[in-house]
Order: sequence, then C-alpha cells, then structure tokens
Amino acid sequence: MSEIILITGATDGIGKITATELAKKGNHVIIHGRNEQKAKQTVAEIKQQAKQAQVEYLIADLFSLPAVKQMADKFQQKYDHLDVLINNAGAVLDDTRRETDGIENTMALNVLAPFLLNQLLLPSLEKSTDGRIINMSSGTHRQAKPDMNDLNLEKESSGQKRYGISKLFVIWNSQHLAVELQKQGITNVTVNCSHPGAVATKFGQDSDNGFFVNLIYKTASAVSKIPVLGNFGAPEKGAVTNIYLASSDEVKGLTGKFFNNKKQLEEPETKEYTPAREQKIWNYCMKICAPFLED
Ligand SMILES: NC(=O)c1ccc[n+]([C@@H]2O[C@H](COP(=O)([O-])OP(=O)(O)OC[C@H]3O[C@@H](n4cnc5c(N)ncnc54)[C@H](OP(=O)(O)O)[C@@H]3O)[C@@H](O)[C@H]2O)c1
Repeated sequence: MSEIILITGATDGIGKITATELAKKGNHVIIHGRNEQKAKQTVAEIKQQAKQAQVEYLIADLFSLPAVKQMADKFQQKYDHLDVLINNAGAVLDDTRRETDGIENTMALNVLAPFLLNQLLLPSLEKSTDGRIINMSSGTHRQAKPDMNDLNLEKESSGQKRYGISKLFVIWNSQHLAVELQKQGITNVTVNCSHPGAVATKFGQDSDNGFFVNLIYKTASAVSKIPVLGNFGAPEKGAVTNIYLASSDEVKGLTGKFFNNKKQLEEPETKEYTPAREQKIWNYCMKICAPFLED
C-alpha cells in the first residue's frame, strides 16, 4: 500500500537514500530540503530510480522555528494525512553561526525542529491507520553530559558535545511523546528513535570540529569507499534502520524504543537519565514551541 512519507534532510546522505528506497517501494514521498535547487535536483534523481513514484518536496531552513511552522502548514494544505514522518535532518555544527532568533542552532535543528514538527503534524498522523514518527538520534548520545541549567547550550563550547547532548534530548523527547500519546489515547501513532551507525556522508565534513574529530570524519569517508571492506560505513547502511522502521510490519504498534543496526532493538544509555530531566527538556521545548502551536 502506498503511504505518504515526509523525510526531513532528504537532499543528501542518509535521508536521500531513505527517500529513494521508500519511493522504490511505491510510497508517496515528500522530501524536505533547505535549498530549492538541490531539492528539485534530488526529486529528479529519485524519480530516475523510482519511475512510477510520486515524489515532491517542501522547503524550510530548520534553524528557524517560523520556517518549520510554514512547512507544516504547507504540508497540511496539500496532503490530507501523513503516514510516516522521518525527522532525519541533523548536523554537528561549529561556531561560525551559533544561533538563530536566540536559539542555539544545534538545539534548533536537532531537537526543536523535530519536536515542533511532531506536534504540528500530529493531527495529520492521527488520520493514518498506522502513523509512525522516526526521530534520528545517534550513538554519540552515550557520551553526552548535559547541563540541565544550560538547555540553550550556551556554555558548551564544543560543537561535538552540543551534538551528543542534542541527540540525548531527542531520545528523551521521543520517550516522553510516546507516553503522552498513550495518555491521550492516541494508539494509532508511534514514535521511535534510530541510530544509523557511523556512516560516511557529508555529515561532519564541512564543520571544523578540531583536529582529531575532523580526522575521524575524513578517514571514515575514505574507508567507506574501499570495496574490499564490504561497503563499511556507506550511507546505504545508515538508511536501513529508518527504512525498516518506516515500512516493516514487525514494528507496527511498537513505540518509545531506540533502534540501531537494522532491526535490533537497543537500549539507549541511561546514566544521565532521570524522569525529572526528561520532563525538564520536554517542558523547555514545549515552552519555546508554544507560540507556534497556537491556532
Ligand atoms: N553520518 C553519520 O555517521 C551519523 C551517525 C549518527 C547519526 N546521524 C544522524 O543522521 C542524520 C542524517 O545525517 P547524514 O549523515 O545523512 O547527514 P548529511 O549528509 O549532512 O545530510 C543532512 C541533511 O540535513 C539537511 N540539513 C542540515 N542542516 C539543515 C538546516 N538548517 N535546515 C534544513 N535542512 C538541513 C541537509 O541539507 P543540505 O543538503 O542542504 O545540506 C541534508 O539534507 C542526522 O540527524 C545525523 O545527526 C548520522
């Protein structure tokens, strides 16, 4: 059956491959990008590989919450429901442009944009018989040490550490949303997190994360292109978990979980976790997003 699937950050890397593979399965895929030219080009490339598929695009700079709201409005004007929302867009950012409208950019892109999109598109997902939200996290959440009094990450000078913290918050918000949906009696929408594994995309290549981290990204990119290593670290491998979560009957009804390495269900790191901390980041995101959630 053809599902309506919206994938953020689908003009490159894991998102683009996820979109291509889901289009090949006959789904109606809406890719999100921030650059119209690149989005049009990506749609054309996907249609080359999935000739019968319906593929369209939406544009938004996810550093900007007003832009997230505009994109959600456009989606709702055009499509009567949503089956799968894959919050894939994300990045490790250096300090060249630290914030937008007072919100630190890592928090905006990796945490608040998916948080707001989930809230805004929930009514569309509720119209699906099997609505699914997939929030892209990362294994680097295991190294995160959040300062819960610095949720705009102003004191954290390392882009890499801000990234890890943001991906930990994505997990906590996903767990929280799963419980909220259950409390509200919304049983036809699930929310899960995924980690793609270490994958050589343009991720981390553009930003300056210090000598050693830069070296890891560049080496990973080179290694992934060596055929004898069996495609290790190739973006195709990073897309497998999201494709599985978006399309497999095996995960129907499963919610609040963390997935890694294709089908395996993993437990996220819990050493920094407390229910109070989960509630605090949820309340913080809700407060920032509240102006965009009013009718
Ligand atoms: N690669 C890895 O090893 C790895 C590991 C763990 C988790 N992840 C996660 O997997 C997801 C996808 O990563 P990837 O490796 O595929 O990265 P990528 O190749 O850099 O692609 C990122 C996508 O996000 C978009 N994007 C970035 N900033 C944006 C913004 N401000 N507004 C709108 N769109 C924006 C990019 O748009 P443009 O095309 O315009 O740049 C691109 O489409 C991310 O959430 C990342 O954190 C990746």
